[in-house]
Amino acid sequence: MSERPRILTGDTPTGRLHLGHWVGSVKRRVQLQQTHDCYFIIANYHAFTTRPENSGEIRSDCLEIARDHLAMGIDPDLSTIFLQSEIPAIHELCFLFAMLLPFNRVMRNPTLKDEIKVKDLGETYSFGFPLYAVGQCSDILTFRPVGVPVGADQVPHLEMTREVARRFNQMYCNVDVHAEDDDHVKLGGVFPVPRADVGAVGRLMGIDGKNKMSKSLGNAIFISDSAKEVEKKVMKIFTGRQSPTEPGDVNNALFQFVEAFIQDAARVAELKDRYSRGDNLGDGHVKKEVAEAINTLLEPMRKRRAQFEGRDDLVMDILRTGCTKANATAEATLEAARKAANLHFFPRSVGYRSK
Ligand code: TRP
Repeated sequence: MSERPRILTGDTPTGRLHLGHWVGSVKRRVQLQQTHDCYFIIANYHAFTTRPENSGEIRSDCLEIARDHLAMGIDPDLSTIFLQSEIPAIHELCFLFAMLLPFNRVMRNPTLKDEIKVKDLGETYSFGFPLYAVGQCSDILTFRPVGVPVGADQVPHLEMTREVARRFNQMYCNVDVHAEDDDHVKLGGVFPVPRADVGAVGRLMGIDGKNKMSKSLGNAIFISDSAKEVEKKVMKIFTGRQSPTEPGDVNNALFQFVEAFIQDAARVAELKDRYSRGDNLGDGHVKKEVAEAINTLLEPMRKRRAQFEGRDDLVMDILRTGCTKANATAEATLEAARKAANLHFFPRSVGYRSK
């Protein structure tokens, strides 16, 4: 297992996951766990950057996101799923990494700038808000992965992470400034310079047919929705088309769902052909097939989810095992980093008590 290339990725807990999460990231994670040593971080401290007053909600969101991952097929025997707040090494390294990044470099991070705009944070954001971007460098480097599968919006964070890795290795491990990224570890660096692995899969539209699927916009189909709820929501997908004989636009939201969820490629081609020609194919008919396809996908997820419904104890056991394994890896990295930075005073270990 440990000979497999290691990857790390994760999410800020924001509640139940929806089909957009499946299409955009989790589907790929389920595949990657067959070939890679996978670490999945639940970045709960990051949730505090914008809603520190909702700590109770953040806590239950952590369990919810774990439940959804298990439902979707993340296998705790193959992958390590863990809580950011349970890994002290991440936060200790963050402090050290924060010294390797000029303040203005952090503030120029386009993802941060974008978030300040989109979330309308103005000048009111906390000191901790930009710190989360340094924290993300640390989430990643603490696990020394070779790759980080993420959406395109996260690439600026990865660029910063790569800068931190290079600078640390140069400053504390005598790695030459001209060394190739891929040679850093070979040359004695503590940290590999990890690659952003941006998946080909795009974003899924919401059922409003206008915006990206998102919980806060109320246009999402959740992994935990019942078959009936899925049917009702799919029937609402907005296309604006008037009649089955009107030539339809196969780039509309409905056909994104067709492409994303109907497995039979020949059937997809047939639907597209008839829809675009206005060959007596009504939206309602297409929607029925889409709803069936989504329910076929979700049915085994519902079954798996049912085992964890109302069983926080089981989810907590899985997280505890994940955190224990994550801490073993993280402590090894921290020890190497501390040695390099002359911070090695006393050897230590991190563990959990039973009560
Ligand atoms: N910022 C990421 C998001 O909003 C979540 C995240 C936190 C993350 N730490 C990470 C992603 C480390 C990849 C690697 O989606």
